[in-house]
Amino acid sequence: VEITVTTRTGDVRLIEGDEGISLMEAIRDSGIDELDALCGGCCSCATCHVYVDTESAHELPPLTDDENDLLDSTEHRGETSRLSCQILLSAKVAGLKVQIAEEE
Ligand code: FES
Repeated sequence: VEITVTTRTGDVRLIEGDEGISLMEAIRDSGIDELDALCGGCCSCATCHVYVDTESAHELPPLTDDENDLLDSTEHRGETSRLSCQILLSAKVAGLKVQIAEEE
């Protein structure tokens, strides 16, 4: 599954991740080390925050209450903020474009 990632320094990288892993894992596996992902994907740290280009994917998983609350606790929440550990790679998100959010 291919995803385009814009890093904090403005680099645009095309990365590839296996279906079923999270976007957070795919970004880290690709060698981009800007996501601390302190909680390891448990939806409790918000250090895997990204902005998604919603039009670039067919369908994104719905925002859960937990994810929404956690995003509210961040300083840089934007309209298309998501936690990348809560987005699993599948054909539905192929081609997704994301930008890594500012550090908290
Ligand atoms: Fe902690 Fe996503 S890795 S909320």
